[in-house]
Amino acid sequence: MNLLIGANFKMNKTGAELREYFGTFLSEYSCPSSVDLVIAPTIIGLVLASELAKDSCVHIGAQNMSSEISGAFTGETSPLSLREISCEYVILGHSERRTIFGETDELVNKKVKTALVHSIRPILCIGENLNEKEAGLTKDILRVQLEKWLSEIDNTTGIDIAYEPVWAIGTGKSATPEYVEEVHIFIREILGQRESRIIYGGSVTEVTAHELISKREVNGFLIGSAVLDPRRLIKIVEEATR
Ligand code: 13P
Repeated sequence: MNLLIGANFKMNKTGAELREYFGTFLSEYSCPSSVDLVIAPTIIGLVLASELAKDSCVHIGAQNMSSEISGAFTGETSPLSLREISCEYVILGHSERRTIFGETDELVNKKVKTALVHSIRPILCIGENLNEKEAGLTKDILRVQLEKWLSEIDNTTGIDIAYEPVWAIGTGKSATPEYVEEVHIFIREILGQRESRIIYGGSVTEVTAHELISKREVNGFLIGSAVLDPRRLIKIVEEATR
């Protein structure tokens, strides 16, 4: 199973900045065969990123996608449009979509199903917030999220799971490697026979990547802030593969 390393640019980088990023990244990245590297720019940056990544080892991912194919859904993006520009992955269930934009359990589940129908690989983000962690509810929360968001989906072969504790996102406070290992083993138990990569997200950097990846059931990362610099993304991949 290849490692999955995802760069979630969130609402960062203009077209000019994307060109500069890909220029640096593609000239210096060595494309290790053991890594599936996904760059997820803004929706408007997807077309350009897809062109820039053409004929390279970089995969393109969307940060969001409609659960519908077409119709009166102002502001939404169809999976058909994503397929058209060779977008292979989509980040779904991200805590920022759920807490800021009010995405519900039902909607996340519907989006996962739609993505699978259109052969776009969901990176499904799960994770507890700080209150839930402090109340000792982490495992209960994750179990319920997986149950609801994978409802009526038996085969998760085409789905990757990103464990992103909300309290570790953008805070500079990564979960400890031991904590990540314990939680990932728990997620693997819940998934049972279902094959999915389980990746960690939350303040991952080039300093923490090696130790985190050495833990059991850590199959890659989903990273925000650190990978806005292309050389830091390259360094993280190096640390994860050494
Ligand atoms: P940071 O790496 O900035 O904590 O963001 C993680 C994340 O939300 C990736 O989806």
